[in-house]
Amino acid sequence: MRTQVVIIGAGPAGTLLSEMLAKDGVESVVIERRTEEYVLSRIRAGILEQSTVELLSELGLSDRLDEDGEQHRGIHLQWPHERHHIDFTDLTGRSVWVYGQTQLQHDLVDALKRRGQVVHYGVSDTELHDVDTDHPAVSFVDAGGVRQRIDADVIAGCDGSFGPSRSAVPERLRRTWERTYPFSWLGVLADVEPSTDELIYAWHPDGFALHSMRSRAVSRFYLQVPNGTDVSAWSHDRIWDAIGSRLGDGQDGWTLRTGLITDASVLPMRSFVQHPMRYGRLFLAGDAAHIVPPTGAKGLNLAVADVALLAPALVDLVLKSDPRLADGYSAAAERRVWRCTHFSWWMTRMLHTTGDDFDAQLQLAQLRWITSSEAAATGLAENYAGLPIGF
Ligand code: FAD
Ligand code: PHB
Repeated sequence: MRTQVVIIGAGPAGTLLSEMLAKDGVESVVIERRTEEYVLSRIRAGILEQSTVELLSELGLSDRLDEDGEQHRGIHLQWPHERHHIDFTDLTGRSVWVYGQTQLQHDLVDALKRRGQVVHYGVSDTELHDVDTDHPAVSFVDAGGVRQRIDADVIAGCDGSFGPSRSAVPERLRRTWERTYPFSWLGVLADVEPSTDELIYAWHPDGFALHSMRSRAVSRFYLQVPNGTDVSAWSHDRIWDAIGSRLGDGQDGWTLRTGLITDASVLPMRSFVQHPMRYGRLFLAGDAAHIVPPTGAKGLNLAVADVALLAPALVDLVLKSDPRLADGYSAAAERRVWRCTHFSWWMTRMLHTTGDDFDAQLQLAQLRWITSSEAAATGLAENYAGLPIGF
């Protein structure tokens, strides 16, 4: 088999890349380790930045987002007995949208199906070959157990944090940076109307809590928990008690609505960056090249921003043999990656308790500053609502 671009991974990065390449007449084949049902049911991120929404709209992929997405002007920042709204629209003229990654993944997979895009789901033993030549290839065992090989002009490694692409860059040429955090998030999905108009990020002595949402009928919550937490230690009553006390249920006229918990899982927190994002004819995008802790809601948006830079670079390389954008891809993408890596680390450090009272006082001082200084609030707003793709 032969194609122009083999895309490894059918997450948001891989499916969006396939869609953008097709719009410009570049053919791709997508291979994915999981089944289609699994890919479509994963619960992950929930916030789209303005430039992500603009890109999806330009590509004609925003019909459902326009219908079901909810535009938010900003977020609430809170600590015990204080809740402050940071209005991104007033501060920067930009906003964010509540629209689950699960919904976005549906939109992308549907768009691929409408075009008749070839996607091999359920593959195993994915291997990359000859990436440092101009005739790279990917081989894999398909869902039927047959070994297949696809020759291509380019390989796009969109295979997330555990895929094989990032280690196809030789060790002597790659550099990685990593930070693990001494806490995790317990993510909770519940069939209950949100108790807030916009997201609440709450600092609390018991640990961070976040009130997010998926729709007018579904709420999403996160609680800071110690690493190694077993979800079975958290009964639904214990979860609601912790959410209530950390978010201030019954205080200052605010009450938490509770309902049926439909999912609870523990997510580790990590920062990771790999350089370069291009080696020969292999290009990395999304979580394959970098991971951020979810506190800044950046992971999905960063994957989309990579693809927005990568797609035109591959179009020029494959159709016109013009390598200029491809040669600049890694540097252009990494500039934004490091900005978002810093922002995500900074939000994480400001909001998660460490057990150290000096840290706690510094965190509270910073929260008071952000909620009382327009200059400080604007910095947060600019980063959270997202910088333009080519900033
Ligand atoms: P992925 O979505 O990971 O897609 C990569 C795809 O590659 C996967 O479908 C995988 O199955 C496939 N793949 C892997 N190996 C192979 C192989 N060998 N062969 C073929 N295919 C392969 N971000 C936030 O901003 N907020 C959140 O709340 C949040 N929650 C998250 C919860 C979890 C459990 C995880 C893992 C991530 C979360 N993120 C969150 C991050 C966000 O979901 C990611 O940044 C985003 O999915 C990145 O998209 P991607 O396409 O680069 O990678
Ligand atoms: C979510 O709704 O899943 C979500 C929202 C904001 C974050 C992280 C996750 O910072």
